[in-house]
Amino acid sequence: MSKLQLKNICKSYGANPVVDDLSLDLQQGELVTLLGPSGCGKTTTLRMIAGFIDLGAGSISMAGKEISTAGRTVPPEHRGMSMIFQSYAIWPNMTVAENVGFGLKVRGTPADEAKRRIAEMLDVVQLGALAHRYPAELSGGQQQRVALARAMVVRPEVLLLDEPLSNLDANLREEMAGEIRRLHDEFRFTTVYVTHDQSEAMTISDRIAVFNLGKLEQIDTPWNLYNRPRTQFVAGFIGRTNLVTAQVNNGLLTLAGLSGTLRPDQAVTGGASDVRVSIRPQSLYLGNEGSAREGAVAMGEVSVLSRTYLGEHWDYVVSPVGGGDSLRVHAPPASVLEVGQQSPLFIDPRGVAVVS
Ligand SMILES: Nc1ncnc2c1ncn2[C@@H]1O[C@H](COP(=O)(O)OP(=O)(O)OP(=O)(O)O)[C@@H](O)[C@H]1O
Ligand SMILES: [Mg+2]
Repeated sequence: MSKLQLKNICKSYGANPVVDDLSLDLQQGELVTLLGPSGCGKTTTLRMIAGFIDLGAGSISMAGKEISTAGRTVPPEHRGMSMIFQSYAIWPNMTVAENVGFGLKVRGTPADEAKRRIAEMLDVVQLGALAHRYPAELSGGQQQRVALARAMVVRPEVLLLDEPLSNLDANLREEMAGEIRRLHDEFRFTTVYVTHDQSEAMTISDRIAVFNLGKLEQIDTPWNLYNRPRTQFVAGFIGRTNLVTAQVNNGLLTLAGLSGTLRPDQAVTGGASDVRVSIRPQSLYLGNEGSAREGAVAMGEVSVLSRTYLGEHWDYVVSPVGGGDSLRVHAPPASVLEVGQQSPLFIDPRGVAVVS
């Protein structure tokens, strides 16, 4: 049975549908991330799960019991959930230990047990030494960890985290994302995590639900979202890609201006017709690079339109000599081509996905 189930939920403000017919199933102990651009309905969805917002339509169930329908919402304090809000608020007038212990106090946990659990949790988030400090005496990352400890110490049925790392700089964010994944592996709380940062989502998630304009585009493992995107939006939002038109013939794809034919990993149906495909820049190869790659298909000649050196790789834009869509190619630093130079192009079909 699913731990948390969202069935066809909808929410509108005025005439604006903000969440549109969303269905989502979380298993016990699973961490699912809602990922999407600003304003796509992530916070609204999380607040509906928490019980702060009533549903327009649909239902939410926890372990098979309905907790929200269009007419009835079980209040947040009776849902056994913990939520960290987008502007995570820890109380400035309480010490670290008091902040972490607050939920236990509200629940009437005996004092000695509370003390033990607070100490354990502070160890987990590595704040044991700072238990008696006030928030104003902590760094942003430390405050973040207080918020996490406070949410987890009550052992929630479901943990809801709304952009909990948004106030941190890039390095600390990466470190804390790894930390959240580690804590998740340790405690296995069923978790819904919200972010608009795709690398953060890839780091921590079992599965990612990609949102766009209030609708679920695709929910999948990080690997599948990257390698098997089903829509143009997902292909473009998760990593970089080339979105181009291809011709389908008997399950094979051809690209305008190029002679090679590609058989993608998923079967392509339909007769001679145009489809949109996503081709990852690192599955395109220039020159000798490509002939050495097992499985890469010779596509024909291209010429270099522009190039940027990014340290870890070259970012080339190439165009088929016979005309056709230009393509972005990521090549290793040693693969040096001048603007205007011609080169054979190879494509690894494993980096090609047909998208709608
Ligand atoms: N109370 C409200 N009244 C009217 N419109 C609202 C209300 N709350 C949210 N909205 C609108 O609903 C849409 C979705 O908002 P939401 O906060 O869920 O987005 P989000 O995906 O969390 O974005 P962000 O990444 O910026 O936090 C936005 O267009 C927002 O303006
Ligand atoms: Mg939000």
